[in-house]
Amino acid sequence: MDDPVPDAVRRAMRSSVIAKQFAQIRPTVLALAVGGIALALSTWLSFQLGARMTVAASVCVTEIALLALIGSLASSILLSVIAVCCLDYFFASPLFYLRVDLARDFWALTAFFVTSSTVSCLVHRARQLEAIHREQAMLLELTHDSVTVRDISDVITYWNRGAETLFGWKKDEALGKMSRSLLRSRYPVAFDEIKRTVLEIGYWEGEVVHTAKNGSVLAAESRCSVLRNKHGLPVAILETGTDITERKRKEEALESVARATTIGELGASVAHELGQPLAAISAHSAAGIMWLNRDSPNIDEALSSLQLVAAESRRAAEIIRRLRALAKRTPPQVTRLAINDVVKDVIPLLQRELLNHQVTLKTKLDADLPTALGDQVQLAQVTINLAMNAIQAMDAVTDRPRELVIESRCGDAGDVIIAVRDSGTGIEAENAPRLFEPFFTTKPEGMGVGLSICQAIIQSHGGELRLRNNVEHGATVEFSVPTIAPRDATQQ
Ligand SMILES: Nc1ncnc2c1ncn2[C@@H]1O[C@H](COP(=O)(O)OP(=O)(O)O)[C@@H](O)[C@H]1O
Ligand SMILES: [Mg+2]
Repeated sequence: MDDPVPDAVRRAMRSSVIAKQFAQIRPTVLALAVGGIALALSTWLSFQLGARMTVAASVCVTEIALLALIGSLASSILLSVIAVCCLDYFFASPLFYLRVDLARDFWALTAFFVTSSTVSCLVHRARQLEAIHREQAMLLELTHDSVTVRDISDVITYWNRGAETLFGWKKDEALGKMSRSLLRSRYPVAFDEIKRTVLEIGYWEGEVVHTAKNGSVLAAESRCSVLRNKHGLPVAILETGTDITERKRKEEALESVARATTIGELGASVAHELGQPLAAISAHSAAGIMWLNRDSPNIDEALSSLQLVAAESRRAAEIIRRLRALAKRTPPQVTRLAINDVVKDVIPLLQRELLNHQVTLKTKLDADLPTALGDQVQLAQVTINLAMNAIQAMDAVTDRPRELVIESRCGDAGDVIIAVRDSGTGIEAENAPRLFEPFFTTKPEGMGVGLSICQAIIQSHGGELRLRNNVEHGATVEFSVPTIAPRDATQQ
């Protein structure tokens, strides 16, 4: 039995294909029909008015050029042929015949054909270029990123749809305005410096804070490039921006959780660390009082007790300073630093944990390392997190020494490496791909943010955080930190 549905579908498809093809050729057909009639009428009229062939030919070229704006190149060439026939019919001898007897007429008609074909080609080329430009401009409108162009005096000259969505200002409202005052932009360094970099190097990228029309504050990853004219002079700055507000918010939330966890985990160590200088202060003060309370006070002894009190107070203050630095959110401060100092700084903070978990610490610090570039507080935070993980990974170990090794060495790429090795349970293969995921933990009381924040910190330093199981027992987690270039080192 015949199935009527496929037939109907096929018919519908066929008619839709025909409709589509017709829609494609419609401008060409229209240009040919309108053009044919217009050329015939204009040459007839020119003939009736007694005009010369050159006048009629000029009118024809104008008509063909105008029609080239809607039809195809083929229709324009065909119209040129029709125009040659009309000119021949009305102006070349013998009149009213499609024949050319005189060489002069032949060359005139040939020159006309070449001229009108060339004009048609040029019009079509211009149309093609315009279509390409329109398509490229459309692409700029399609992207979700903001794309803006401003001239050298910071006046906005282009504003795409992404910028409208992100900042809330419509194109009409933004064009002609000063970019920085419209968006109340805050750049990480002085704007003039950024402008100088863009003009000199041609490029700048960084994080910029803008205020949208509705007053909300946005963080954007911004990339600026310079546009130059043909003489190489800068004429405008193109800026693309990606909205990273949400990402920043998450990162900051994660970071503060991580910081709180680090501080929480260190609570016992800090109490222990502070206990020592406080006990010493109390003992030395008591001694001082005793020396002064004697029948003949011993000023020298009292003074040396007071000096010890002052030294121990400084030690306590230093511990508190370090802890406050860890707890406080300050913008990263990349400085030249000896990476071994980072390790030496965190060891006192780990003492209590080592004691509680019966772990022995060994340090193997290479004394001859190049100067690293990093944020001392952040790198201390990373080292503490890795050491705490290592200590906790050895909790279940009862049949071998619980040993934590912190090592510093030179990396292959001229960077410096801090490796934290333990003799714990090692990393389970099934967990390995998830360890850097925020909130992934295998510990009942774990927060699961330590490694992800460590990785973010190390990546922002341009280094790398690596994790592997040891051949025998336990795991090694190490991170690399870039060092100053040899050129800078010589300037030191
Ligand atoms: N040295 C290590 N040995 C074995 N496993 C580790 C080690 N360091 C991290 N891990 C694993 O990575 C997971 C995530 O660590 P982390 O992000 O610091 O969160 P948390 O310590 O709160 O669990 C841990 O739960 C643990 O399973
Ligand atoms: Mg941890």
